[in-house]
Amino acid sequence: MVTGVMNIEEGASLPAKNTFQVFMCSIIAAVGGLMFGYDIGISGGVTSMDTFLIKFFHHVYEKKHRVHENNYCKFDDQLLQLFISSLYLAGIFASLAASYLSRRFGRKPIIMSASAFFLCGAILNFFAQELGMLIGGRILLGCGIGFGNQTVPLFISEIAPARIRGGLNLMFQFLITIGILAASYVNFLTSTVKDGWRYSLGGAAVPALILLIGSFFIHETPASLIERGKDEEGKRVLRKIRGLEDIELEFNEIKRATEISNKVKSPFKELFTKSENRPPLVCGTLLQFFQQFTGINVVMFYAPVLFQTMGSGNNASLISTVVTNGVNAVATIIAVVMVDRLGRKFFLVEGATQMTATQISIGALLLKHLHLIGPITSRSVPLIVLILICIYVSGFAWSWGPLGWLVPSEIYPLEVRNAGYFCAVAMNMVCTFVIGQFFLSALCRFRSALFFFFAVMNVIMGLFVIFFLPETKGVPIEDMAEQRWKKHWHWRKYFKQN
Ligand code: BGC
Repeated sequence: MVTGVMNIEEGASLPAKNTFQVFMCSIIAAVGGLMFGYDIGISGGVTSMDTFLIKFFHHVYEKKHRVHENNYCKFDDQLLQLFISSLYLAGIFASLAASYLSRRFGRKPIIMSASAFFLCGAILNFFAQELGMLIGGRILLGCGIGFGNQTVPLFISEIAPARIRGGLNLMFQFLITIGILAASYVNFLTSTVKDGWRYSLGGAAVPALILLIGSFFIHETPASLIERGKDEEGKRVLRKIRGLEDIELEFNEIKRATEISNKVKSPFKELFTKSENRPPLVCGTLLQFFQQFTGINVVMFYAPVLFQTMGSGNNASLISTVVTNGVNAVATIIAVVMVDRLGRKFFLVEGATQMTATQISIGALLLKHLHLIGPITSRSVPLIVLILICIYVSGFAWSWGPLGWLVPSEIYPLEVRNAGYFCAVAMNMVCTFVIGQFFLSALCRFRSALFFFFAVMNVIMGLFVIFFLPETKGVPIEDMAEQRWKKHWHWRKYFKQN
């Protein structure tokens, strides 16, 4: 097996032009991020729309409008949460399937299938008449996201020349944030239209169609072709995407990688049993666990609901959401530009600190001003919370957001990189599921204390980065063990020292 993510620096000397083909293929594939982001951004707004609640969750609608209802419990409903989180459950299985299928059949067919699944899910949701159709649609969307998230970042890494691989890779996260932003704007537009939720959910067809049509124009990656014995085709694609006739050097490099990794018959077994793989496995998987426990998806899924909980009107909540999502997209650009200069650890620690401070402030404000029953006691609180959420989101967007995906792609040795990356994707899906499924119940039970919980998590993850994560900036991936893990005060014990 050729692993998907190859060394960012490895082969930096390999000749390559920055061709139109490479940019086109990477941008088209990154539309997978647009699908993912659209879904993240659309669900929260839809669940706060009255017409949607009346049709599918009438009891939640009634509860929401009962004046004396506990402020924190208005939206607490397992089925409503299942609507959001069912997608992630499906996504976990789909990404496992994708990690196997993309090795066997190539990356391109999996990206195509991702868009087809997503398109079917969007259509089913648009026509949904009952809860079953709605959840069925979510499951199809989840299959699309699982296929896409497992394959797209790996595809970009394989197609891109080494020296721009990092930047092209972060485009995936950037398009996630654009998707979230677009979705919140769509929700804002459709919230006043009759049955507007249908258009919001059906709108998912747009990124899916772009990806589906676009995927006919992308090339299969040379690594995948060579891995499956199609050497001549691999060379032909290499010539095209590198804009050069002489590609022997890179071809041989890929061939060598194929031979090494083909010796490992069971990458998952190798990943879980070999002690040298423990440090990247722990760090890569925990990074995604922590990414979700920053509490980001509480904001992404439930911001409109949160603003309504604080007494804002429907429109005001949706506008607030557009604002926070705009901040998310803009702040991501800072990471794209700066992360190779200031390093991963700097951003991860800074982001965790910024998020801790804002979570504590939000918790304290709600504790003081949003009591169990009755309106919020200060009219300025929703605005202050909005500002705090923007600061919080920007902290996430230039740190744990992109780096939660980038770091796991650069810390594994070649032969287990694909399997290791799957663990990060799966951890992302499991934790997103947990947050999606339980946040509203947790808000009902723990109220503002929930924000203090996330603050504590942010402190823990900041400390984890300081003490356990080596700085990976500028280190060739294949030298990661020598230069970083073997020299680390804790992780070095997992290596036989020579
Ligand atoms: C995370 C998502 C999150 C998004 C927000 C991604 O990196 O995986 O869970 O909603 O960033 O921008």
